Amino acid sequence: MINIAVQALAVVGFLLLVSLCYRLLSFIWFYRLRRTSVQQYLHDDSSAYALITGASDGIGRAVAQELYDKGFNLIIHGRNEDKVRGVAEDLRARGSQDVQYFIADAENSGHDFAQLIKPLKRLNVTLVVHNVGGTIMSRERHAHPSSPHIPYTMIDGLSEADLQSIVTRNAFFPLFLTRALLPQLRLSAISGPVLVQFVGSQTADIAPPRLPVYSASKAFLRALARGLDNDERFWGAPTGVRFAYLALGEVRTHTHDSAHSATSPSAESLAQALVARIGCGKRAYTPYMWHAILQWLLGFLPETTVDDYAAEAMAEVFARRKKAA
Ligand SMILES: NC(=O)c1ccc[n+]([C@@H]2O[C@H](COP(=O)([O-])OP(=O)(O)OC[C@H]3O[C@@H](n4cnc5c(N)ncnc54)[C@H](OP(=O)(O)O)[C@@H]3O)[C@@H](O)[C@H]2O)c1
Repeated sequence: MINIAVQALAVVGFLLLVSLCYRLLSFIWFYRLRRTSVQQYLHDDSSAYALITGASDGIGRAVAQELYDKGFNLIIHGRNEDKVRGVAEDLRARGSQDVQYFIADAENSGHDFAQLIKPLKRLNVTLVVHNVGGTIMSRERHAHPSSPHIPYTMIDGLSEADLQSIVTRNAFFPLFLTRALLPQLRLSAISGPVLVQFVGSQTADIAPPRLPVYSASKAFLRALARGLDNDERFWGAPTGVRFAYLALGEVRTHTHDSAHSATSPSAESLAQALVARIGCGKRAYTPYMWHAILQWLLGFLPETTVDDYAAEAMAEVFARRKKAA
């Protein structure tokens, strides 16, 4: 009897070891060995466009640069026309591909999305990176760039319009833009693969204090990506338009002034990792290796410990902002 129990334990141990080795090897392959397959979205005739929202600064701008350098024509989006035009000119100076842009404040509701993308209707869009997003703080920072200390507030300290603007920027804007683009994307998918990516955040899993609405909006994107992907694949011939959700940890940008560390890369490093993993076939993943390691480690901790850790990290952000003010 004891012998059987020992043998059963040995088998379970062996299976656990195999599974651990498999996960470790998959991790190494994904982050260190796998070669990028982003070129598949260039199709054959070099007419392919990548559309990136929130591309006048931060991660979006760095992603636009990476994709331009990989040979994509670009459609970039932002809210400040002078700034977006300047970024478009800088991009064009890097090569010979086309760069177009459109302007829309993603916090405002009521856009006529069909009208917004009308000038882009004939373009072969093969890649969409829904990058625009952020917390209430980035909105305040944009409105008051000279006052870096923005108080984080609980939801009853924010107006309904403030709360709505967070959800609109992070969730509804990408949803409605995707809806308007879909027929065009399905046409592009006839000649090759097409991918729509939603830039999410690890806060969707952790939901730190003072960011519940932002975190919930990012969680919305995760379900949306999977649901839309299934929509395009089932109950009819698959259209070839695929969707993915990207979970990002801290990235140093002008709206997120975290200290330099392995888990807090520059927008450029993050963009390199993001573009390198485009086309990996996963529907939800963490493009930057150190963010993935952090996420994995947090997975071993009890939820209450993660909550304490997140609250402490947020307190550090408050303190840093206060000092900078
Ligand atoms: N940075 C991080 O630590 C971090 C972590 C996890 C997830 N993310 C996600 O990554 C994405 C990019 O973040 P980021 O740090 O690069 O942000 P960022 O530095 O604030 O840049 C965001 C870009 O979006 C534009 N934008 C912001 N609000 C807009 C609006 N209402 N309408 C139109 N354009 C708008 C900005 O335009 P302006 O140039 O006019 O400001 C800028 O081009 C966001 O979805 C964010 O939630 C960031």
